[in-house]
Amino acid sequence: MSKSSKPTLTTEAGAPVADNQNSTSAGIGGPLLLQDQHLLEKLARFNRERIPERVVHARGSGAYGYFEVTDDVSDYTGAHFLGEVGRRTETFLRFSTVADNLGGPDAARDPRGFALKFYTEEGNYDLVGNNTPVFFIKDPLKFPDFIHSQKRDPFTGKQEPDNVWDFWAHSPEATHQVTWLMGDRGIPASYRHMNGYGSHTYQWTNAQGEVFYVKYHFKTNQGIRCLSSEQAAELCGTDPNSHQTDLLQSIERGVFPSWTLYVQIMPADEAADYRFNPFDLTKVWPHKDYPLHRVGRLVLDRNPDNVFAEVEQSAFSPNNFVPGIGPSPDKMLQGRLFAYADAHRYRLGVNHTQLPVNAPKAVPSGKANNYGRDGFMAANAYDRYAKNYEPNSYGGPVETGIPLSAPRPVTGYWGTHEAPQHTKDDDFFQAGELFRLMSEEEKGRLVANIAGGLSQVTREDVIEKNIAHFTAADPDYGRRVEAAVRELQEG
Ligand code: HEM
Repeated sequence: MSKSSKPTLTTEAGAPVADNQNSTSAGIGGPLLLQDQHLLEKLARFNRERIPERVVHARGSGAYGYFEVTDDVSDYTGAHFLGEVGRRTETFLRFSTVADNLGGPDAARDPRGFALKFYTEEGNYDLVGNNTPVFFIKDPLKFPDFIHSQKRDPFTGKQEPDNVWDFWAHSPEATHQVTWLMGDRGIPASYRHMNGYGSHTYQWTNAQGEVFYVKYHFKTNQGIRCLSSEQAAELCGTDPNSHQTDLLQSIERGVFPSWTLYVQIMPADEAADYRFNPFDLTKVWPHKDYPLHRVGRLVLDRNPDNVFAEVEQSAFSPNNFVPGIGPSPDKMLQGRLFAYADAHRYRLGVNHTQLPVNAPKAVPSGKANNYGRDGFMAANAYDRYAKNYEPNSYGGPVETGIPLSAPRPVTGYWGTHEAPQHTKDDDFFQAGELFRLMSEEEKGRLVANIAGGLSQVTREDVIEKNIAHFTAADPDYGRRVEAAVRELQEG
């Protein structure tokens, strides 16, 4: 019983704590005693508060909300949560920066993660995207090297322009994404003022078994707003948590951010002959080839109560699909289908799907219904008669026999292959198109941003290779970058 009407402070075992200000000592001035369970427990517990941060996208913010279908897409997918206009599904969205560690500034020039969990009645569907429609590389084998080059150098302990640009010098396929990143959209003003993209091509299957390839576009209803390099540099110093502050306060004030979801839809039989490889993550599908179809509205209306429990411990995996939605042969996506759940087992443990933010709470059973058991921190209690093997004679859960998405044909020999080339599949055409779309002012800022980084590179051959990529995208682009770099080097 406590002295006031406030609840009693307890140890982890639930026993009342007598004194939370003074440790137990041998006499008034004496040393502390090993028998002080509350002190030992408190210090030991504190030592274990941090878990490994995400190897990428460590810094982030999250919020709950819902997705509501506004347009009928049942001709294209049998996914239940998209099956009826007006249907609502609870969601959790985590935004993030990519390269910096936990605690890095929000207003960095970096892609932003846009990881969305739909708690559907057919299981959790995770769409783990970015605020950019393309990516730097197209084979997952290059991902660890790419990330090493962008994160802190093992010797200097900081991000190094030499490493960043050296990787890009060796990766011409990055030119499109680099052009995007160094342009105006490279630093969003806040998480609310940017779009989200699934980026990869995914497979939708309708009730008749017909297959479509789709790309997801979440368009912000707040309007796109970005920061200049100068504004961002200042903000990183004055409010390193600027995106977190903005999202948190907006939702607390009842100003709920929203996005409209559109999809581009390609009938499966058009994929082989499309002018771009539709499974190449460094390419977009121009909207004049595949226009946007509106699907619904995503609204964020609730902040998590506890950042660690709900945001830090949230886990999104691109291989969490639901019936009617599946992967495409995009090699990057295929690599990601393995990487995330593996990261979760390391970062959070084998039972991370039992944590409330990750649990499939909207399914009829209210939890995962399978024969996976035990492991560290197993919290799911099963009925005493529930068998832990399958098949069994005791009425345990059984398979449906219905694949989540339609099987696709494959041909060829196993081996390492470059992705199939389509007619317009060079590394530079779409980067050049993006450059040519920009106004004079936008081109000026793009070139200044590139030159600001590239001019810090110490190796001339790395600078030249990068300039050659911009030249291949558009001769004017390359010429301007070269002039700006030389000016900075001389100045
Ligand atoms: C986070 C791997 C490409 C978006 C992560 C994590 C890993 C990873 C291991 C940390 C997961 C965790 O600890 O919870 C990879 C690999 C890639 C790749 C191997 C390429 C083969 C991409 C691409 C996108 C993307 C192309 C976007 C289109 C994200 C996002 C997160 C993330 C948004 C943060 C998820 C969260 O908020 O918890 N990635 N990634 N990644 N990745 Fe990737």
